[in-house]
Amino acid sequence: MKINAISLAVLCLTWHASAFPQLLQRQSSQTSIAPSQTTLTPTQTAELSNIGQGAVKALSQTPVATPGFNAALQRIDVSGVHAWRAPGPNDQRGPCPGLNALANHGYLPRNGVGSILDFITATNTVYGMGLDLSVILAAYGAVFDGALPLGWSIGGGVHTGIGGSHGHYETDNSPMRADLNQYGSNTRLVLGQFQEFFDLQPDAATANYDIDVLSQFRGIRFNESIAKNPYFYYGPFAGTTVSQAAFSFIYRFMANHTEANPAGILNQDVLKSFFAVSGDDGDFTWNPGHERIPDNWYRRAIGDEYTLDGLGSDTTTFASRTPRINTPGCNTGTVNSFVAIDTSYADYDFSTPTQGVCFALAEVLSVAEMLPVVGIVVDLLVLPVQNALDCRTVPARNDSVKDVCPGYSFYGGPTGMVAPGAGQD
Ligand code: HEM
Repeated sequence: MKINAISLAVLCLTWHASAFPQLLQRQSSQTSIAPSQTTLTPTQTAELSNIGQGAVKALSQTPVATPGFNAALQRIDVSGVHAWRAPGPNDQRGPCPGLNALANHGYLPRNGVGSILDFITATNTVYGMGLDLSVILAAYGAVFDGALPLGWSIGGGVHTGIGGSHGHYETDNSPMRADLNQYGSNTRLVLGQFQEFFDLQPDAATANYDIDVLSQFRGIRFNESIAKNPYFYYGPFAGTTVSQAAFSFIYRFMANHTEANPAGILNQDVLKSFFAVSGDDGDFTWNPGHERIPDNWYRRAIGDEYTLDGLGSDTTTFASRTPRINTPGCNTGTVNSFVAIDTSYADYDFSTPTQGVCFALAEVLSVAEMLPVVGIVVDLLVLPVQNALDCRTVPARNDSVKDVCPGYSFYGGPTGMVAPGAGQD
């Protein structure tokens, strides 16, 4: 019944498909959705339906072997309404540097609370995120981070926003952010982690923090959480899928593109700018919430959006060096006690982001059905993606893991207790 009404509304509207189905361009700025909205207009319905179809197309987008470069299309405006401004006292910022930077430049609402459509549009147009990935990430955020019907915060409190989604979205073993119960915070940037990563490319003239460098660091951070966080929890999706993205996004979305280097180079200055780190090597300062898109910064090529397929390929690269990242698991209350969660998850393949996403989408759909307007949005955006993916039957969420994994229960907010025996540095 619901689907029929939606389809009718879509048919009644004239919609001109974009020349680049994977790139929203400026069309989306014509429509906006307020995070607190409780119903959709026919125009909003049509736009979301169009995006859902764009996401399906992005799933089969052919990877570009040699990206081109078009300065006019790829340059990201950081002037005027998009000038960088530090967040004010009531503006929310959190553990995702990419989203913090978007809010600091007004590509997301500067207060840090966006609608599903805001997140999709901003990540697609500014960073070149494939619509498949942005739809999945934004819809999951609305369901698991949301306190508002159609929006959520990039900061967060207890059970809301990214910071309040520990173990469900935000996770341990992040590249730069602290493990919750190792430091008592999941949003703090640990300068030791940043320095360790920075040191992997010490020569400023040639530094490029690419997928190979990230692959080294992926293993370092995974093993560090095992060795230092007694409550390390590496769950299905948040651990096995989101974690890989938190690493690969650093190069795939933060690298600067030029005519000479159309595939992108992530040098030391650009890295520091996106992570809100100032100062010289060995004497860095973290400036919370001050993430910045550099001047003269060019996004990835139009038509070369980073899709779920790209994340799959980077995950394979990471796993070839650190195979354990493919299995949900946890420390059991002491450091170096890592075990796989091998109950109901044992037979499911979390090694591919596609199956990780299938797991997440099944959860999104089951929860969203209980939330009226979110249910409609999710049907428009998520159902087409789920139908297009080759999803296996997903196992039910296994809450008995709390008996094995004490870290699973510490969900709450952006702060938590420091685990006894945590090796903080
Ligand atoms: C709608 C889109 C997005 C959503 C919902 C999202 C969500 C998240 C979440 C939940 C985390 C926490 C993961 C963890 O704890 O390790 C995170 C971290 C991260 N995100 Fe995003 N993100 C999005 C887009 C982006 C983009 C476009 C970039 C890059 C420009 C990015 C870069 C990162 C990085 C590097 C981290 C790890 C931060 C650190 O350890 O310091 N994200 N994001």
